[in-house]
Amino acid sequence: MNEKMQVGIIGAGTMGMGIAQVAAQAGHAVVLYDGRPGAVEQAVQTLRATLGKLVAKGKLAPSEADAALARITPCGALVDMAPCELVVEAIVEDLAAKKKLFTDLELVLGSQAVLASNTSSLSITAIAAACKSPERVIGLHFFNPAPLMPLVEVVPGLLTATGLAERMHQLMARWGKSPVLCKDTPGFIVNRVARPYYGESIRIFEEGIADMASIDHALKSVGGFRMGPFELMDLIGNDINFAVTRSVWEAFFFEPRYKPSLTQQRQVESGRLGRKTGQGYYTYGDGAALPPPVVPAALANAITERVLAMLINEAADALFLKVASKGDLDLAMQKGVNYPKGLLAWADEQGAGHWTAVLDALQAEYGEERYRASPLLRRMARTGAHFH
Ligand code: NAI
Repeated sequence: MNEKMQVGIIGAGTMGMGIAQVAAQAGHAVVLYDGRPGAVEQAVQTLRATLGKLVAKGKLAPSEADAALARITPCGALVDMAPCELVVEAIVEDLAAKKKLFTDLELVLGSQAVLASNTSSLSITAIAAACKSPERVIGLHFFNPAPLMPLVEVVPGLLTATGLAERMHQLMARWGKSPVLCKDTPGFIVNRVARPYYGESIRIFEEGIADMASIDHALKSVGGFRMGPFELMDLIGNDINFAVTRSVWEAFFFEPRYKPSLTQQRQVESGRLGRKTGQGYYTYGDGAALPPPVVPAALANAITERVLAMLINEAADALFLKVASKGDLDLAMQKGVNYPKGLLAWADEQGAGHWTAVLDALQAEYGEERYRASPLLRRMARTGAHFH
């Protein structure tokens, strides 16, 4: 994998366009393909405008913008990908479509070319198993917007060749990204560990402990999170956020910790999806402002601690199950969803005993599996050990 190699990007939508920009700015010749006629041309126009804005803001030299654009070649057929040594797909999130694309690509590409998928919810192993050479298939999960979000989850499947993840990790670092290595498990790191930020916050609302604006306020002011959970769900789109929760829950064979909420399902059914429809949990548009929070300090602390205990438990359990290293678990949440600290480092501040006690109190009160502490957290509480 050298700086001169050509990179193919398939799917010129939100993600493909962003990944094409990242690869071109890293100096690669990029071949861009999309199944929808006109999509690639449209994407190149959008990229020209994006790079133009960066130049106008003084963040990019005009010559660099021109050079990056000149490196991107739109193509009209998969066969034009033949010289590429790495192809990243960012097509529709559908297992059958991704399998078909990769088997078609194998007929075109050289035997050493790497096939990467930007899937956020499908099994890399399942995609790879459809290929003649599954050992060259890997997950490269970028975050939206790809040029701005530093995190890339590098996900080797069960059939991926030893050493390929390390090579892709190095390549992503050369592209200026913050790569983390992650086991091929549902939601990878971020979409798994972040679930309670939404789920537990909705649960607190459902129980009538506080209203949405107060919960958002608590997590921002006490927790230091950049956006409250309800604002964030409105930004992501409640349809997307609900679908991710549902897919992680189903993929974990209905693990109770990830159970979707009826509140969010009704929200999706109502069509009030968030910012993109002008109305979600909150109202958007001219003059609209978030409702004022009404939350006493003690309650804000309690709300934050409950959500944080659930997040820390997820991170601890992901470490327990060897999904990723402790360093990568912490890096992923900071670089992928802008958490103010890594969750395991956060856990160390009060110690595992504190967080186990918070979870045990919740489980005693509700009697639900959802609140069971990870065996790792409990073990550390017993020994007084720290994550870092
Ligand atoms: P999008 O809908 O914006 O773009 C997908 C593009 O792929 C479209 O232009 C479509 O015409 C094209 N396409 C669909 N099927 C194709 C096929 N069989 N062959 C060639 N082109 C095809 O979708 P988006 O949001 O860019 O997502 C793409 C992938 O990235 C999905 O797997 C998604 O799960 C993943 N992803 C999305 C993120 C997001 O925030 N949007 C974040 C991280 C991953």
